[in-house]
Parts: sequence; C-alpha cells; structure tokens
Amino acid sequence: MSEKMEESTHYAVHWQEENYYYPLPEFIGQANCTDPSIYERFSLENFPECFKEFADLLTWDKYWHTTFDPSDAPCWKWFVGGRINACYNCVDRHLGKYSNKTAIYFVPELETERIQKITYQELYKRVNETAILLRDFAGLKAGDRVTLHLPMTPELPITMLACARLGVIHSEVFAGFSGKACGDRVWDSESEVLITIDSYYRSGKLLDHKVKADEAVEAAKNQGQEVKKVLIWRRYPGTYSAEKPIVEGRDYFMDELLTEYSRKEIEPVSMPAEDILFLMYTSGSTGRPKGCVHSIGGYMAYVSWMSKYVQDIHPEDVYWCMADIGWITGHSFIVYGPLSIAASSVVYEGVPTYPDPGRPWRIAEELGINIFHTSPTAIRGLRKAAPEEPKKYNYYFKHMTTVGEPIEPEIWKWYYEVVGKGKAVVVDTWWQTETGGFLCSTLPAIDPMKPGSAGPGLPGIHPVVMDDEGNEIKPGEKKAGNICIRNPWPGAFQTIWKNKQRYIDSYYGKYCKDPQSTDWRNWPYMAGDAAVMAEDGYVRILGRIDDVINVAGHRLGTKEIESAALTVDEVAEAAVVSVKEEVKGTIPDLYVSLKPEYDPTEALARKVSEAVSNVLGKIARPAHVYIVDDMPKTRSGKIMRRILASISNYQDVGDVSTLSNPQIVEEIRKQVQEV
Ligand code: WTA
Repeated sequence: MSEKMEESTHYAVHWQEENYYYPLPEFIGQANCTDPSIYERFSLENFPECFKEFADLLTWDKYWHTTFDPSDAPCWKWFVGGRINACYNCVDRHLGKYSNKTAIYFVPELETERIQKITYQELYKRVNETAILLRDFAGLKAGDRVTLHLPMTPELPITMLACARLGVIHSEVFAGFSGKACGDRVWDSESEVLITIDSYYRSGKLLDHKVKADEAVEAAKNQGQEVKKVLIWRRYPGTYSAEKPIVEGRDYFMDELLTEYSRKEIEPVSMPAEDILFLMYTSGSTGRPKGCVHSIGGYMAYVSWMSKYVQDIHPEDVYWCMADIGWITGHSFIVYGPLSIAASSVVYEGVPTYPDPGRPWRIAEELGINIFHTSPTAIRGLRKAAPEEPKKYNYYFKHMTTVGEPIEPEIWKWYYEVVGKGKAVVVDTWWQTETGGFLCSTLPAIDPMKPGSAGPGLPGIHPVVMDDEGNEIKPGEKKAGNICIRNPWPGAFQTIWKNKQRYIDSYYGKYCKDPQSTDWRNWPYMAGDAAVMAEDGYVRILGRIDDVINVAGHRLGTKEIESAALTVDEVAEAAVVSVKEEVKGTIPDLYVSLKPEYDPTEALARKVSEAVSNVLGKIARPAHVYIVDDMPKTRSGKIMRRILASISNYQDVGDVSTLSNPQIVEEIRKQVQEV
C-alpha cells in the first residue's frame, strides 16, 4: 500500500458518518427525476442498452445503430453509426420555442457595467458569424485543433460553440495559466490558431492577457509548433486594452474581422458521434499534462442527462455555475450540459468576493437564480469572509451543487443552512476531467443527502473500492482503497491525445484482468482517488493517490511544480508537498536544495516562487519556498516527500532512522516550525 493510502486509511477510520438530510416535498414535487426504480433500469444487467435514454435527449442527424462498441478496448465507442452536431443541439434546436429566452447572462466583474442577456436567437447569430470567420478567415475545418486561452466572457462559449459547429476540436486553456503553459498545450495539440482576448477583469483590475499570447506562441515555436494566426477578442470592441503591439500578419482583432461576416449563416457540420468534440488538458503524475479526448455523441448525451436529472435544470430555471469554463466543470456544466437542455446559464467574469463577499448573493437576487453550483474552496472563502451575508439577500435556491474537492461536514452545513436557507437540496458531485460528467452523487429528489459524502454511483455508474491486490473492499468495511468504476459510460474520455499507452497504463494498468480482452468487465476504470464506501453505498473521497495535489479544486502535478522550480539555475533538487489550509483545502509547500556554490537568500526563495508562477500560472505559486541544506533521503537516494509533508503539516514525522541522513529532519523541522 502506498504511503498516501496509509494516511487516507487512518483518516477514514476516524471519520464519523453524518446523519441524513431529506429533500423538501416542494422540491420533489417539481423534480425531473423522482422514480426510484431508475437504479434498476440502469443496473449492470441492462448495460449498455440503458444508455439509450441518455442519447435520446439529443437531436441526431442520423440515429446510431450500435450503443456500445468495445472492439478497441479500452477506447470505448458510444452510439456508433450516429451523426450529430453539438452546436446544433445547444443552439439551433432551441430556436422557435426559446428564441427570446436568455441563453447566457454575462455578469461583468465591475458592478457598474450592465449585465448582458444573450438570447438563444442572439447566440445563434453570434455563433454562426464566428464559425464562418473561423472557416473562411482562419481556414479551420473538421478535425483541426485550435487552442483557446480565454477568460470568463461570453466570447468563450461562443468560440467553443463555433468550433463545435464546424467539427473543429477546441482545446481551452484556463486563462489563469501562464503563456508558457498555454504554449505547451498549443504544441501538444498541434494548433495553428490561438484564440485569445486583450484583457479581462479580475479583482477589480483590467488584466493584460494579450502578453500571454506572445509567450505562448514563443513557447510553442521553441518546441517546433508554429502558430499562424492569433485571433484576439477585445473586452471592449473597438478599443485595444493591452500593452504589446499586435504582430502584423499574425494577430487580428475578432471584432474587426466579424464585420465581414455580419448576419451570415452556416450549416452545422454533421459529425460522426465518436469524433472528438474537445481536448481538456489535466495534470497527471508526470510533468507532461494529459490531453483528455472527449467525444461528441457520448459526451453530449452524458452531460445533458446530468444537467437535467442531477442538477434538475428546467428551461424556466436560472442556473449559475460559479466555476471557470477553463476547467471541465465549466465545459460540462456552464456550456454543453445546460445549453443542450435550453437552460439560462450565467457566466460571471470575476472573483466571488469582488467587490465584497455579498456579490454572489446580489447576483443571485438580481437574476432570480434558483440553481447554484460551486466548489468547497469558494464556499469556505465566502463563509470565512462574511458568514451571515447570504441572510441579507432575498434569493431562493432550490438546488445547489458542490464539486471538485472533499467538503468538510461543517462547511457543508453552512452551505445548506445559510446559503441554501435550509430549503435547497445539495448534491456533492464527485467526478474528473477524464469522466466528462458526474460519477457519484445523490439523485436530489430520491436519495437523502449526507454531509461530507458524495453519494452512491449515479444511474448506470457502478463504483467499487479495491485494495492494492485487486480485492473488493465491501461497503461498510470502513477501509479505504482505490475507487474504480466497474463499467464504461458514455461521458468518459476516449483516450489521451497522442498517447494511448499512457491512457491504458494510468487508468487501467493496475486492475485490468486481461489486456487482450475486449470484454469491458475486465477493464475497471481506476480514478486515482482513495475512497471509503459506507454501508449505504455512499462514497467518501479522501484525496488523490498519485502525485497530484488539489489546490482550491484545481489539479496540479507535483512534478510540474518541481520541474518549474528546477528552471532556476541555482536549484539542485525540488520537492513539493501538500499542506492543509483553511480556505483552499490544500496548498503546495516547496522545498528546494541548492547547487553547492550558492547560498540561501530570501531573494532566491522569491525567485523560485516567481519561476513557478511564470511557468505554470499563479494558482501553482507555493505557499512557502524553503531552501534546505539537503533533502531527507532513503539510502537509495529517493527524496522522502512524506517526511517533508509531515513537517509542513505539523505532524509527527515518524521513524526516520532508516534514512541516509536522519539528522537533516530535525534541522528542517526547526527551520519550518520555529520561525
Ligand atoms: C477531486 C473536477 C471529493 C478528486 C470535476 C478528483 C472531489 C479530482 C470531488 C478531479 C468531490 C472532484 N469530492 N473530491 N465531490 N470532485 N474531486 O479533473 O480528487 O479537475 O480525482 O475534475 O478532484 O479534478 P478535476
């Protein structure tokens, strides 16, 4: 058993199960999914045909003939033979009935700026014009990749949908990531076009974003990938709000180009269901991010079903997911899922506490939001900043989602009682970039809630917790293990871009019963999380088992951070550990040792910290950089990160006598704890 698993097991046994909370009758009365026999309908005996119900939420150009094709195991294909367009499903099919309904509410960060309401009709127009531009000006066609480095303005979903309309594969990189991180993804995806924006608001400041495009193009070029065109949206059309001049013949302003395409329309390209809708890069246990490949038909079917039945979105609801579209949560649950079922979805530009922690509740009141979706980090931050604030506002949520990290029961209760005013159901949804949509969660009108637990597998998802030998740990055994899903499902990624072997090794390598087999029963999906399953089948996620840390709900590879630290010349070795923190859940502490000719200084520690945020983006910035004389090492020379983690977390370091340099442990402890 790995060291991390041992820690998790310890943690699991001491955690008391919480009591159930029940949904109110008013909620059940209006809910989309109230029939408890649904779990039967989606039993393993009914796999895979049960998923027809998911696919039938979509409008198909050509209906599919094969629900599930396992022939290229474990790259499963869904709804084979079908043809479909994702943009058509999110936009065109709502025209008529919902033409004048708001599709996207754009809430700028500055409260002095007007909230924009984009109707489905207007969205149709803007997506069409953008799609023609991408085809005729940028030369993009089905199957090409294009990298987007866009923040939270309506231009992001518009660009995504325009790509989807053409069958172009978009790869959106979180705007907070550095130009270098964006360039690495441009290179990996072999994008010849980069779409960005000049600037956007964050904490009251208009940030210059264009500068990152120049860095990205440079970083991609250094690795051999040339970006031919950089298309730049402008936060204020007609006004350029960035420092760096545009590069003649490479950089173009979208608002200027679009005047050419005004009111032009373009037919959605009918795509094979199993073709690629988008890539979403995520961190793994090596330095290089993985491009998760998501399909069109399977993914769209999955997120539409989840939005309708788990989030209980009806077309008349106003729904706000306060995540960033730069992550999978935003792709699935701001854009594709909600728009596919004709929701009104809110896109908020800024931070939740700007200009003060009442902001989210004012937005909720003003727009009449009744479904709210956010992360434990945001909930902790709002609770800490102003625990009574929601009471001052006159809004009413029927439903609230939490996602991305484990939520502590105390925090859950504040969310339920204060934010939800004791009336809203809460779903704690456990899933991943790889999985496309939720895996474990309660069905809000059917299952009671349990603070701190995600809930059972959703209909059609059959989770199992396994020990390191592949034995099943039974529900209620109070032992932690690796959570796996027994069966494939339509929302799952199909592979890692250009790296099928890594896909197989990372997610199936450990538990595959027969690598030659095309029987899905031999290929349980290993998520990479430690978990405990209670007797009632509810799953509690304990954290990652691999070298990934979850900072404020964002996945960062420890190797990515360590590699960034090693770009500083003076640094000889680097080790990252995760530290518990009140608001962000966990944060990284970075330990470095220097090459012999250098001396530790404050300035050098700052330089290392800056190198990490320059290479990866501010979210990766370590809480502390400790320059140590030496790393604690095993006799074979392996850095003992576990010992550094214990020091950072003020825990007992345990027996260190078998190290090659045990004396260093006490030195480091003093350095860290006695300041
Ligand atoms: C963690 C985010 C506890 C988990 C959708 C997973 C969670 C990783 C939960 C995926 C939850 C996500 N409770 N932990 N409800 N949801 N996680 O790819 O460790 O950014 O493996 O996808 O976040 O992060 P990702």
